[in-house]
Amino acid sequence: MAAKLPDSNQESRSIWSSVRDVGHHRPMRCDVWWSHPVSETPALYGLLDQVERDRYAGYRRDVDKHRFLTGRALIRAAAAAALDIAPGAVELDSSCFDCGKPHGKPTVVGSSLEVSISHSGEWVVLAVAEGVPVGVDVEEVRAAEVDDLAGIAFSPAERATFRSVPAEDRRGAFFTYWARKEAVLKATGKGMSVAMSKLTLSAHDEPPRVAASTASEVDVAAVRMADLDPGPDYRACVAALTTEAPEVTEHDATALLAALG
Ligand SMILES: CC(C)(COP(=O)(O)OP(=O)(O)OC[C@H]1O[C@@H](n2cnc3c(N)ncnc32)[C@H](O)[C@@H]1OP(=O)(O)O)[C@@H](O)C(=O)NCCC(=O)NCCS
Repeated sequence: MAAKLPDSNQESRSIWSSVRDVGHHRPMRCDVWWSHPVSETPALYGLLDQVERDRYAGYRRDVDKHRFLTGRALIRAAAAAALDIAPGAVELDSSCFDCGKPHGKPTVVGSSLEVSISHSGEWVVLAVAEGVPVGVDVEEVRAAEVDDLAGIAFSPAERATFRSVPAEDRRGAFFTYWARKEAVLKATGKGMSVAMSKLTLSAHDEPPRVAASTASEVDVAAVRMADLDPGPDYRACVAALTTEAPEVTEHDATALLAALG
C-alpha cells in the first residue's frame, strides 16, 4: 500500500524534543519536504548540472536514478522558493569533505541555506533550514539482522537498553535508533565516517535526544532532533546542530515538484 504524504496544509507544529525556549524572537524554522521518487521529465533533467548528469547516468537501476533526480529537484525547488530565484539558478556543490568527489552533503552555493537529503523505499525527503546545519534520514523498516547491526552501531549503553526491547518491537526500534543516529551524523556533514557507536541516544520510545557523545563532531548541548512521520513502515528523523529548538514543518512536495514541469 502506498505510504501517505503528510498534509501540506497542516499547521506549522513544533515537534522538537527539547524544552521550549523562552524568548521573544521568532524560532528558527526547519522545513521538511516529502516526495515519492519521480520519473525523468525534460524539465527535471534540465535542472541537473553536468556533474549531476554524470552521476545520474552512472545509476544502473531506474529507482536509483529517480531517487537522485527527485532529491536534486526538491533542493532546487525549495531553495528557489526560499531565495526568490529561478530553480535553474540554484547551484549545488556536493563535494565530499574527505575526497572532494561529488558524492557528499549538498550545499547551496552562495547562500546560507542548509539542506539534507535522504531516500528509502517509496520516499525521498529534504530538510532545509537557514544558517543551521541539518541532517535528515528516512529508513524503510525492512528485514535485517538487527541484533548483529546493533552490536556494531550502538553504544554499550544503547545495547543494554535494546536488549530489553520485546522481540516483536525490535526491528522497528532498531530503525528508530538508526534513522536518529544517521540524521545527527548527516547534519555534521561527515555522515557515517563517524562511528555511530560514538553516540548514545535516548531510548527508541522516548523523545529523540543525544544523551552522550564521544564524537568530537557532535556536541550534546547543541543538537536538536525531531522524529518525522512518513507512515508506519518507515522511521525518519531530522537533526539540527543548534542549541535553540527550531520549529519543524512537514510538507507534501507534490505541488512544489509539479511546478518545475
Ligand atoms: C551519507 C550517508 C550517510 C548516506 O547513507 P544512505 O543511508 O545510504 O543514504 P541516504 O539516502 O540517507 O542519504 C543519501 C544522501 O546523503 C547525502 N550525503 C552524502 N554524503 C553525506 C555526508 N557526508 N553528510 C551528510 N549527507 C551526505 C547526499 O545528499 C545523498 O543523496 P544524493 O547523493 O542523492 O544527493 C553514507 O553514505 C555516508 O556516511 N557517506 C559518507 C561516508 C564517508 O566515509 N565518506 C568519505 C568517503 S570518500
